[in-house]
Amino acid sequence: MENEAKKRILSGIQPTGSFTLGNYIGAVRNWSSLQTDFDSLYMVADLHALTVRQNPAELRRHTREAAAMLLATGIDPQQSILFIQSHVPAHTQLSWILSCNTQFGDLSRMTQFKDKSAKHADNVNAGLFTYPALMAADILLYNADLVPVGADQKQHLEMTRNVAQRFNNLYSPTFNMPEPYISKTGAKVMSLQEPDKKMSKSDTNVNGFVLMTDDADTILRRFKRAVTDSDGIVRAGDDKPGVTNLMTIYGSLTGKDFAAIEKEFEGQGYGTFKEAVAQSVIDTFTPIQAEYSRILEDKEYLDGVLAEGAQKASRIAERTLRKVYKKVGLLQL
Ligand code: TYM
Repeated sequence: MENEAKKRILSGIQPTGSFTLGNYIGAVRNWSSLQTDFDSLYMVADLHALTVRQNPAELRRHTREAAAMLLATGIDPQQSILFIQSHVPAHTQLSWILSCNTQFGDLSRMTQFKDKSAKHADNVNAGLFTYPALMAADILLYNADLVPVGADQKQHLEMTRNVAQRFNNLYSPTFNMPEPYISKTGAKVMSLQEPDKKMSKSDTNVNGFVLMTDDADTILRRFKRAVTDSDGIVRAGDDKPGVTNLMTIYGSLTGKDFAAIEKEFEGQGYGTFKEAVAQSVIDTFTPIQAEYSRILEDKEYLDGVLAEGAQKASRIAERTLRKVYKKVGLLQL
């Protein structure tokens, strides 16, 4: 698994419910295709989920479901290391050291912190604020070269690079500089109701998002209701955010570019177009959902994969942590 010749990838996703179409197009779908060419680690970021209040039983269930869904999308535990963040204690341990090397000012500039603290004004906790230091630990523990994420995580990645650079300058070269891997299309899938906003499962309007576990009828309904515009022409452009978003989704799932999509729906109304987009999503999710149900029922298999993943990830992470502890001057026994 630890092939020195291959570059290393790490990414993660929070188990805060079923994944959205945005999670899938922007991040998850790339993970299984990257695993053959890269030494890959994929993680369910349960510790990150705690920055927002969670129901404990639901968090536990969502964590298993998230792992099963990642396997269902094609992540192969023979090729990749799949694990749960809290199963590898080195993440929180390194996170503390990195927090002590992360500036208050830098953390204050994080747009996600600003958004989430506005959204959860009754729970602006310290974890929400220092979250990027934990994310930096996730990445730097494994010396990842590439981090495949959606556009909304770019700022956290820049922060990780800054922290790594500062640490390296202060204590001698220790961490690799990770690069974001953000796909050209679909890095930011927008809400189906408010196409100027990112698609998010925490949207209060359920018509704004599609979940990977949604059935065909729900998916079709969501797309039929999607906000477009009044000119009835399938064309991409800044003046047509709703239609452009639907074209992005359709293009991402079918491999067709904008020119081909415009041609395909020339002279046809939005009705036909929306149905085609919905169908491309249904065709993508139906086999994944079948696999997901199968894996979720096979508790022994899932537990086995996660136990092995935690063990393999720990081995790499602990090596980095030991090095860091020594460099910062913690007494070794
Ligand atoms: P999370 O759980 O919010 O999202 C998981 C991945 O999905 C992408 N994404 C989107 N992409 C396109 N369009 C959208 N509407 C959309 N919504 C979400 C996100 O960019 C992300 O790649 N902090 C991370 C999880 C994490 C992580 C890490 C990622 C923890 N540690 C280390 C990479 C490396 C998060 O909250 O992602």
